[in-house]
This record gives sequence, C-alpha cells and structure tokens, in this order.
Amino acid sequence: MKTPSPGIMAAGLIGLTGIILVSIGAPSSRKAPAPISETSEPAPPTSVSARGFSLASTSVDLPVDEATYPDGPHANVINANCTSCHSASMALTQPSLSADQWKATVTKMRKVYKAPVAEKDVDAIVAYLIAMPSQKAAPATGKAQDPDPKAAPGVSGGTG
Ligand code: HEC
Repeated sequence: MKTPSPGIMAAGLIGLTGIILVSIGAPSSRKAPAPISETSEPAPPTSVSARGFSLASTSVDLPVDEATYPDGPHANVINANCTSCHSASMALTQPSLSADQWKATVTKMRKVYKAPVAEKDVDAIVAYLIAMPSQKAAPATGKAQDPDPKAAPGVSGGTG
C-alpha cells in the first residue's frame, strides 16, 4: 500500500480533530455539576433491608483533627513552623501546660525532632500555645510528655 502523502495525512488529522470536538460539544453545552450541598445537618439515618440483611447508614463524630492552628495572635508564625510534620490537633489536644512546659515542648520539636524553627519564633509560638482556648479552660496542671526522648520515634513501625 502506498503511504499517504503528508498533505492527506494532515487533512485527515484535521478532520478527525473536528469530529472529536463536535462529539465533545461546546463548553457551554455541558451541564454544570450539581452544587455541593452546604447544609451542616447530618442526613437522618437511612436503612435498607433485603433478604435478611439490613444496611443502615449513621453519622459518627470523629475526634478533633484540625490541620492548622485557628486564627489568633501569632497564628501565622505557628502555622508556618508547626504544621509540616503533624497536624495542629497534636497541640490543640494537649492538657493544660505552663509556659515553661510549652517552651520545653517546642525545644524538643527543634532539638530532638529537628523541626526547622528559628530561635526568634519560639516566644511567639509559646505565646500562641498558652493562649489556646483548650489551655485556658483548665489551670496549667497537665503533665507534659517526655521532654527529653533523645530520639524521634522510629518510622519502621517496630515495637521498640
Ligand atoms: C520535624 C517534624 C516536627 C515539627 C516541624 C514539629 N513537630 Fe511536634 N512532634 C513531632 C514528633 C515526631 C512528635 C512525636 C509524635 C509521637 O510521639 O508519636 C511530635 C509531637 C508533638 C506534640 C505532642 C506532645 C509531645 O510533647 O510529644 C506536640 C504538642 C507538638 N509536637 C507540638 C509541636 C509544635 C508546637 C511545633 C512547632 C514549634 C511542632 N510540634 C513542630 C515532630 C515535629
């Protein structure tokens, strides 16, 4: 078979592109996806039963999992320094600690876990931490976690 000339191949390609474009349709001819419902009410439980099986859908309350620190003085500093390894809930769910205990925790993040936090940002971060609503709810009598663990937890999933 004779190879078609480049001109014929180009014409064929253009024709094919035209057919594809027509079958896709103009952008305006497509229907917009239904907007995501913004109701905060959980849907009432529903269930289906058939042949002795019952499937029920319920809603569950998941534990706090805030990725970033809520707005407040120095929130930008703590968000810039403290959200790369773990979410904000790690600090938001701690018991009420004193400023010294928080400072020791931040020092542990820097020295033991190698968090790249500049010395000059430490005071602003500690100020944010002690002002968190979860901290003010109770007197600072909580027990900080091991302030000197020597090494970061392993990533191997081992038991040691
Ligand atoms: C380099 C990674 C890294 C960065 C950045 C980091 N952390 Fe951590 N953080 C860790 C690790 C690792 C743990 C321990 C997790 C575990 O024990 O499972 C931890 C645990 C914690 C805990 C739990 C209590 C404790 O004492 O272990 C708090 C609170 C915390 N971090 C706060 C912070 C704050 C505040 C910052 C910003 C100054 C920060 N982290 C930045 C790695 C980091």
